[in-house]
Amino acid sequence: MKIFLDTANLAEIKKAVDIGICDGVTTNPTLIMKEGKDYKKTLKEICSIVKGPVSAETVSLNAEGMVREGKEFAKIAKNIVVKVTMTPEGMKACRMLTKSGIKVNTTLVFSANQALLAAKAGTYLVSPFIGRLDDIGEKGTELIREIRQIYDNYGFKSLILAASIRNVEHVKEVAMMGADIATMPFKVYEQLFNHALTDKGIKMFLDDWQKLQKQLKK
Ligand code: G3P
Repeated sequence: MKIFLDTANLAEIKKAVDIGICDGVTTNPTLIMKEGKDYKKTLKEICSIVKGPVSAETVSLNAEGMVREGKEFAKIAKNIVVKVTMTPEGMKACRMLTKSGIKVNTTLVFSANQALLAAKAGTYLVSPFIGRLDDIGEKGTELIREIRQIYDNYGFKSLILAASIRNVEHVKEVAMMGADIATMPFKVYEQLFNHALTDKGIKMFLDDWQKLQKQLKK
């Protein structure tokens, strides 16, 4: 499973790229608003740091507008993927952009049927929002299992990008359910590395190493 960062924060992206585990980045208007910077300039900077796909979200509500915005985004860098919303107009835009060679990420997907439609429209990525389903009392990660089964049944090539990930348990569950990609906030990414026994083990090894140095000096 590929690991993407769901952020527009350059410092966070640089840290993950430096570690060497950052297969791509997803952004949206909310994340850009948090940074308070120009969207296109920020995308350009992100694309210069990350080799993998970088999703840029359109804000038009009609297909023509989404295509126009998408074509502008696509000029920024080769690894730009254009986000369109899961609506009839969004799917029209998805077909048009895909036909012109631009990769699409269909966002705001909350049901398996929506994911089926996105695959039929030729989307490159489909983004089911699991955390927001949890918020309304559903089991968000179940949606990943359903989409996986449908895509496998019919050989759809669209990649399942589990989005709206809120914790490390989500990451494990979507990996077990066969998501192709998980995109997550940097906070969750950092937590993936942690385990209390790892910390305890490091301390124990270092303590013993110090003891050995003392013994050798005697
Ligand atoms: O980028 C889309 C998605 O990951 C947003 O997550 O936490 O705002 O539901 P969240």
